[in-house]
Amino acid sequence: MPQIAGSRTFPAPKPFLKWAGGKRQLLPHILANLPDGWEDMVYHEPFLGGGAVLFELSPGSAVVSDANSELMNAYKALSRDPSKVIACLKELRKDLSPERFYEVRGMDRLPGFRRLPSHERAARLIYLNRTCYNGLYRVNALGHFNVPLGRYAAPRVLDEEGLRAVARYLRKAKVRLLSEDFGHVAMVAGEGSFVYFDPPYHGSSETFTHYQSAGFSEDEQIRLKALFEELTRKGAKCLLSNADTPFIRDLYKRRGFRIVDVQAMRAINSKADGRGRVGEVLVRNYWLAACRARPGA
Ligand SMILES: C[S@@+](CC[C@H](N)C(=O)[O-])C[C@H]1O[C@@H](n2cnc3c(N)ncnc32)[C@H](O)[C@@H]1O
Repeated sequence: MPQIAGSRTFPAPKPFLKWAGGKRQLLPHILANLPDGWEDMVYHEPFLGGGAVLFELSPGSAVVSDANSELMNAYKALSRDPSKVIACLKELRKDLSPERFYEVRGMDRLPGFRRLPSHERAARLIYLNRTCYNGLYRVNALGHFNVPLGRYAAPRVLDEEGLRAVARYLRKAKVRLLSEDFGHVAMVAGEGSFVYFDPPYHGSSETFTHYQSAGFSEDEQIRLKALFEELTRKGAKCLLSNADTPFIRDLYKRRGFRIVDVQAMRAINSKADGRGRVGEVLVRNYWLAACRARPGA
């Protein structure tokens, strides 16, 4: 929905990156399962990724985070000064040759990469996301981005209006942007918070290849469930999405937690034939008012 300020209508913020596990398909189910009165709560999203849910909800008060520091740097740089990021992208889009792609990709192998201005690193991430294979984010053991060039005739490296809409929202809502492990949310959320968890899915190939080199094991899923319990005890409203596997069902089978079946089109492995109709679940620690429509619940 467009945002209206004075006599001007601004476009609504939308994800500016393609991100594995993006939640667009699941949005209607997530919307139908939000806690009553969530608009008056502080919104927390500790596995932010491309931010599909954050932007759809556009909460007035939010704390968001992701362990991927390059990703969070892009959000921070946009929030601080979108014009600088846009100016860098205008330069980058002048040369869309394979040689230039590998030169830009290789910047993180050079000493001093971390000391580059944050808007330059943000523009690099957006450029690579738009031009690399399938918009994947993958780094090797040394933390070097290693996705090859994608096959695009004319990749859209810059969507100026879209980036400005994201920046406008992040600033207006004073969204707190962190780069922390998900466990950090225990320190900042509690009574009056709504926490949406979208971890790498159990059993998916994303678990070890698409994210940070450390991966997301079953032990991590168990650590996340303990956090879900801790926040429940503190009075936070929590919603989590994950794959519908016996392991996840068993983990969250507990009095007071509600497991909702949903179906979504999702790639379950990196092969083309892995794309299919795969079950997903939403887990929540609250009940909904009986009068609410609940598609898929
Ligand atoms: C399924 S994706 C989130 C997708 C996002 N909801 C969207 O719509 O694009 C999972 C995210 O968790 C992040 N992640 C992985 N391990 C993490 C950890 N230990 N703490 C915080 N974030 C982590 C990854 O970097 C990735 O961005």
